[in-house]
Amino acid sequence: MTIQWFPGHMTRARRQIQEKLKLIDVAIELLDARLPMSSRNPMIGDILQHKPRLILLNKADLADPEMNARWLQAFRGEGHAALAIDASTGTNVAQIPGEARKLLEEKIQRQLAKGMKPRPVRALIVGIPNVGKSTLINKLAGRSVAATGDRPGVTKGQQWIKVGSEMELLDTPGILWPKFEDQEVGYRLAATGAIKDEILNVEDIAFYAIKQLADQYGDRLNERYGLDIPPQGGLEQDEIVGIMEAIGRKRGCLMAGGRVNLEKASSLILRDLRGGKLGRITLEEPYSFLVNGNGN
Ligand code: G4P
Repeated sequence: MTIQWFPGHMTRARRQIQEKLKLIDVAIELLDARLPMSSRNPMIGDILQHKPRLILLNKADLADPEMNARWLQAFRGEGHAALAIDASTGTNVAQIPGEARKLLEEKIQRQLAKGMKPRPVRALIVGIPNVGKSTLINKLAGRSVAATGDRPGVTKGQQWIKVGSEMELLDTPGILWPKFEDQEVGYRLAATGAIKDEILNVEDIAFYAIKQLADQYGDRLNERYGLDIPPQGGLEQDEIVGIMEAIGRKRGCLMAGGRVNLEKASSLILRDLRGGKLGRITLEEPYSFLVNGNGN
């Protein structure tokens, strides 16, 4: 799928989500724990307005545990409820209904005081493609639920999925778009496999990945590929290409004449990174998030 930051796309996505906002009590914003900033739609605060919001750092199993804790702290510091989860295995997923309910505690208490019986909390999951929305919906539902997209001419009432006795979830998530025109965002999303390789050149993505990994996780590269990257990082362009070539040579990505096939080496590097072969990695720090002011 080609994902682009078309204004038309966003206008439509925004309208669709805002229609659904009228039906729900809580929005569940799903982010990729490896890149919480790049996997976030920059207009999210605007779109969700004052709807109570629970932020979920998904794929936490692939992200650096220490960074997960720092990101949770950063989001909580901004006044949001936040959890780190793994939607595929279900780690921490059982905490979601309770966390969503906590966001409405005052309202629930008011209802109880008036003698009203509170109904289950109604929630909508929103996030960019590939962040794990369907996986999470299925996990919460305890079964495979077909998330039917909006098709013209097909009128389909909103389906609510019961999640225990405390929560009901809309079966169709809200699809948001990343801020694509920012090159760094594109490369980070591509490095983790959130967007398809065809959009960007595979060697460029691997170059970007190695550059960032050498700065943050040089020891992991050294360990996996038997390299000697200095701990301080900050490598020059030709040094990064040198690392890619060294990896290619060690892994037998060679062309006739013994030259390194950089394209093959790049694919190998990205496969290792995405498959967790380099360990649990987070490409963004909360520091830059706060400085860039994307904490909406
Ligand atoms: P979407 O609805 O937001 O577009 O995302 P979807 O659930 O389709 O998930 C996208 C990919 O991310 C899937 O992998 C899914 O298995 C994986 N995924 C979702 N949540 C997690 C998680 O918490 N941890 C890990 N490690 N992976 C997660 P896929 O390769 O597209 O499919 P498959 O491998 O499941 O066949």
